[in-house]
Amino acid sequence: MPYALTVDPLRLALAAGTGLSWAGLCWAGLILPRWRPRRHGAPAVASRTLVAYASQSGLAAELAQQLARAKGTTAQPLDSIDPAALAGVGQAWFLVATTGDGNAPDTARRFAGAIAAARPGLQGLRYGLLALGDRHYPAFCGFGRAVDDWLQECGAAPIFPRIEVDRGAPADLARWAAATDLRTDPEPEGLWRLIERETLSPATETAPVCRLLLAPLGPAPRWRPGAIADVTLTAPDGSPQRRSYSVASLAETGTVELLLRHRRDAAGNAGLASGWLSTGLALNGQLRMTLRDNPGVAPLPAEVPKLLLATGTGLAGVLAHLRAHLAVPGHAPVWLIHGERHAALPLLTELTASPRPGLRIDLPLSRGTPPRRLPDWLPLQAEALRRFVAAGAAVLACGGQGPGAAALAALEECLGPGSLAQLRTAGRLRTDFY
Ligand SMILES: Cc1cc2nc3c(=O)[nH]c(=O)nc-3n(C[C@H](O)[C@H](O)[C@H](O)COP(=O)(O)O)c2cc1C
Repeated sequence: MPYALTVDPLRLALAAGTGLSWAGLCWAGLILPRWRPRRHGAPAVASRTLVAYASQSGLAAELAQQLARAKGTTAQPLDSIDPAALAGVGQAWFLVATTGDGNAPDTARRFAGAIAAARPGLQGLRYGLLALGDRHYPAFCGFGRAVDDWLQECGAAPIFPRIEVDRGAPADLARWAAATDLRTDPEPEGLWRLIERETLSPATETAPVCRLLLAPLGPAPRWRPGAIADVTLTAPDGSPQRRSYSVASLAETGTVELLLRHRRDAAGNAGLASGWLSTGLALNGQLRMTLRDNPGVAPLPAEVPKLLLATGTGLAGVLAHLRAHLAVPGHAPVWLIHGERHAALPLLTELTASPRPGLRIDLPLSRGTPPRRLPDWLPLQAEALRRFVAAGAAVLACGGQGPGAAALAALEECLGPGSLAQLRTAGRLRTDFY
């Protein structure tokens, strides 16, 4: 049953102050990095070898850092680069992911806008480009291809044809490593042991949510809320595959908690990874997994009020943020809204069991009694949502792309047209959709 805990009005008022001043800092450009044209044509890129990336959920950023280390330079986000200044660069490596529907990641939007408007002469530039995407999307590698096309239109010369990566496929990444002369042994992938597994959904659920707890065999790595776990597995044809999941637990626990939905196709066949992780892998069995940071949803300070909006297993993406936030005494108010299907996940009952000031939790169920789909439920809370966001709350939305987009559209209806674009520009809207 959806249940609302109350927000302490005093805290809310205090947080409104801190939240607004935080938002003010963002607007003043003190927190968000800014790109502006360089004076006197000075290049924005000092080094003769450039490693630049556009990344939404961190894979391109991580690969860029790996390459930059090998090339003795530092990786830069595309948005920090003045396109015209690429004329002063000898050799460049671009690692470019696509998000949305063939769009640039949030941290490359400015660059995307700039290249749409300009064609500087880049005849002296030689480059290699890795486009990261997923063949399930119609605009496969859409933004990577757009950047590649633009570079060639500007006269830059590719050192080798663009390399495209489908869902982080190890074989595609091996081609990139060979082409860039990257002598990887990248960091050896960690071995982990499955120490707990439970099904969280009721027995009636056809695609139940499963919770896994994994312990490292070696020393535990550190990670920040929002981190992503890349699990390596082998397909029936022997090819290595990789699947990514949000880490729900905090690094302090030393264990990685994952939530995943055990899916079946129309013929009843279990999904490769979800089937193996939900039932195939035995308790105490081992798997290979590496953790990476997800800069698109970097944690915000506990003084910032937070609206955490999750659908289904997107709960994992917000849980670590929620736990980190609640761990700070005197934290700003936080409001978690989680849309599930038939029943609230028991995982949240520990939080709803004992009301605490500054925490509100709502758990609308799309197939509950009565059914409450998140996009229908949010407008019922329009006034409270408006007040919460007006008081400085940052919004973090996690979940599948379809349900996530529908939830955001409903939120925008509540907050007013253009509100989400403004929040995003101010760094107060972060999304982690999959
Ligand atoms: C919400 C969302 C939308 C995506 N849209 C596309 C797309 O339109 N085309 C594509 O090729 N890949 C798409 N992808 C897949 C990503 O490009 C791919 O997972 C990539 O490895 C992500 O790299 P990153 O972690 O550096 O952001 C999408 C992924 C997500 C989560």
